[in-house]
Amino acid sequence: DEFMLPVYKEKIALWDWYEIESTGSTNDEIKRLVPSSGSSVALSAIRQTGGRGRRGRGWQEIEGNLYLTFSLNIPAAELSRYVCLIGLSLAETVKEIAPQSDVRIKWPNDVFLGGKKLSGILLENICGSLWAVGIGVNVAAAPELSGTGYEAGSLKENGIMLDRIEFLHYYLAKFASDLEQYRREGFLPLKERWLGLALNCRQKISVKTETAVKTGEFLTIDDNGYLMLKTGEGIERIVAGDLFM
Ligand code: BTN
Repeated sequence: DEFMLPVYKEKIALWDWYEIESTGSTNDEIKRLVPSSGSSVALSAIRQTGGRGRRGRGWQEIEGNLYLTFSLNIPAAELSRYVCLIGLSLAETVKEIAPQSDVRIKWPNDVFLGGKKLSGILLENICGSLWAVGIGVNVAAAPELSGTGYEAGSLKENGIMLDRIEFLHYYLAKFASDLEQYRREGFLPLKERWLGLALNCRQKISVKTETAVKTGEFLTIDDNGYLMLKTGEGIERIVAGDLFM
C-alpha cells in the first residue's frame, strides 16, 4: 500500500480525526500514524479496498459506508470489558438517532439492526496497551453475506438517513462519554445496559472458540465481559469466540 497523507479535520472528543481518500485497511493506517503522532488519533477512509474482519474474514467495501479506526489505551486486564463497551456505545448511538429501531448486540460486539448485522468491530494491538479499534458500519448499503447464518443490513434501508461523517461524530462523542462513565462508576451500569440489548440472552446458542464448538444456554456476561454458558458439564466462561444462534 502507498501511504496517503491524511488531511487533519478536527478534534472530536478525545481524538484528532483525520480522513483519507483510500486505504487497504484503516487499521493498518492507524498503526503507521499513531507511533509518530503520540496522541489519540481517529482515522476514516472514504474507500477501503482490503478491509479485514474477525477470524481472517474480510470486510467488503461499499460506497458511503463508514470505515473508522481509532487508537485507544486499554489496560490488559480490562480488554474484554472494553470490547463490550465499544459495541454497546455503537448500539446505543443507533438507538439515540432512531429510538424506535430494533437494535441488538451479538456477543461480544456485533451490532444488529432489525435482525441483520449492521456493524463489525475489529481490535488489533498496536504496541503495549495501545490498540487499534476498527469499526465498519453499513451506513448506505449492506453487502450480500454467505455462510454466516445471518444477513447484513444498513442504516439507510431502515430509514435512518444520516451520512457516515455524521455517524462518526455521534459515535466518537458517545463512546468518549461512556468511557468516562465506565472509569467513574465501573463496569456494572454499562453491563446492565449491554445485557438489556443482548441478542439470545437466556437462549440456547453455540459458540465457536479457537478449539471447539460449545452449545448451551447463554446465561449472562460476567464482570469481565466474558460469556457465561450453561452446558451439560456445568457453567463455562468463554473469553473469545463466535456466537451462532
Ligand atoms: C467483523 O465483524 O468481523 C469485524 C469487521 C471490522 C471492519 C472494520 S472496517 C474499519 C476497520 N478496518 C478494517 O480493515 N477492519 C475494520
